[in-house]
Amino acid sequence: MSANTPIHDVVRERYGAIAEGKTESCCGGGSDCCGSPSSTLYNTELLEGLPVDVTGLSLGCGDPVSIAGLRPGETVLDLGSGGGIDSFLAARQVGPSGLVIGVDMTPAMLEKANASKARLGVTNVEFRQGQIEALPVDDHTVDVVMSNCVINLSPDKTAVFNEIFRVLKPGGRVSISDIVTEGDFSPELRADAAKWAECVTGAIDVGAYTDLMRQAGFAEVEVVSRVAADGIVERQPGMPRIFSARITARKPL
Ligand SMILES: C[S@@+](CC[C@H](N)C(=O)[O-])C[C@H]1O[C@@H](n2cnc3c(N)ncnc32)[C@H](O)[C@@H]1O
Repeated sequence: MSANTPIHDVVRERYGAIAEGKTESCCGGGSDCCGSPSSTLYNTELLEGLPVDVTGLSLGCGDPVSIAGLRPGETVLDLGSGGGIDSFLAARQVGPSGLVIGVDMTPAMLEKANASKARLGVTNVEFRQGQIEALPVDDHTVDVVMSNCVINLSPDKTAVFNEIFRVLKPGGRVSISDIVTEGDFSPELRADAAKWAECVTGAIDVGAYTDLMRQAGFAEVEVVSRVAADGIVERQPGMPRIFSARITARKPL
């Protein structure tokens, strides 16, 4: 069981406020990160039929669903599912014989996601409250773990990757969109909890990120793409270069 930390509290408070409509953007200055319009992240055809409560609460920095190669019948886990956009998109791809489990620690986000689930009438999505550092999911039960702009927010990324490894079946896949850096934030910048919650100062060097994945046991760890996030997050003097990256990996058989 992973502990709650002050960072979890700040992150939960921020995303709770966003879910409750008390703040418009999750990143400083009304920028795109964690709040990109869904139409800029996803092929718009994919979004057809989703209510604005879902598409308007898209807080990701990429599209981890399209690169996941989901197949009918698969079990998918969405880490930090938020308003549920990726969970609902994945549910369409795995079909009625599949299952999507969304995990999020913020009660107001889960309420939003469950309200949208009821409105959509989908039965193959289940939202669970929990921390991604201590997943409420059984060992070796998941085919694909995906996550969109969430792992950068975790204060214990080692625990997150170990948990992903634990819940995946042998041969299971990982499909992540996340904010990463080239180089590190200074300890002073890291201590800025507000910027952390905005998907900035919790981000780590992309090489360190993929090393943590390999140390957890993953094979075929690949940075499929990365685009500069200069126009997405507010980069201040002294900050490293910041990217939105898509990263895939596989648990060995
Ligand atoms: C930037 S939003 C992304 C939401 C969603 N993935 C999307 O693309 O719209 C981050 C989400 O992750 C959740 N979250 C952040 N840290 C978490 C943690 N340690 N454990 C569980 N959920 C977390 C937040 O509550 C929030 O809903």
